Amino acid sequence: MSAVAQRVIEPSVLYFGTPVALISSVNPDGGSNLSPISSVWALADRLVIGLGLEGQAIANLMRDGGCVVNLPNAELWPHVERLARATGRQAVPAGKAAMGYSHVADKFALAGLHRLRSELVNADRVSECPLQIEARLSQTPDMAAAEARGFAIVELTVLRVHAHATITHLDSHHIDTTRWQPLLYVFRHYCGTSAPQGANFRAETPLGQT
Ligand SMILES: Cc1cc2nc3c(=O)[nH]c(=O)nc-3n(C[C@H](O)[C@H](O)[C@H](O)COP(=O)(O)O)c2cc1C
Repeated sequence: MSAVAQRVIEPSVLYFGTPVALISSVNPDGGSNLSPISSVWALADRLVIGLGLEGQAIANLMRDGGCVVNLPNAELWPHVERLARATGRQAVPAGKAAMGYSHVADKFALAGLHRLRSELVNADRVSECPLQIEARLSQTPDMAAAEARGFAIVELTVLRVHAHATITHLDSHHIDTTRWQPLLYVFRHYCGTSAPQGANFRAETPLGQT
């Protein structure tokens, strides 16, 4: 195979195909805020998310300690984009204002999404998201490091996972990957996934089993 030409590039973002998550967190007035993010990964019962310090989500999380990581499917992207220039911050930071952000108190209404009460945390879940993960802070983020770079790296412990029955295998805890179509953020474009291409040796269901 001939060598592929390579280039050094300086992309403005590195969202190379990360899932979109809607973080619900509790505002000071007790209502739930909704923050789209795409900095999220999971290992066992831990989730790590990246939250900018100028947003409302980090302030809510530091105060309340709990949140829900709601995972939309690909077709929900217009609802996510409706949130794209909204912040729960009452006083919109200058940088966000310059990008066209405004304060919105009820982001569920703005997005056209519906609330479900959580079972173990104070923040509401997003009914339309096929996966909703209740979680709490595992440890206080390093805020000195966060201030230095402008965002916090937040470790969460998973408390409970809720799934639409339509994306699970009957009578099991497995997700049917032919039905679960996560919304990916790919260099600021919203994308879906293709049909499953293969299975890992540890996969517990055959490829394409429904
Ligand atoms: C698809 C998408 C992905 C985003 N990813 C992140 C992210 O990973 N981390 C982050 O802090 N902000 C991210 N943002 C920007 C936040 O949504 C924005 O900071 C917003 O102010 C958060 O709402 P809040 O201020 O009410 O918390 C993303 C926005 C969109 C639309």
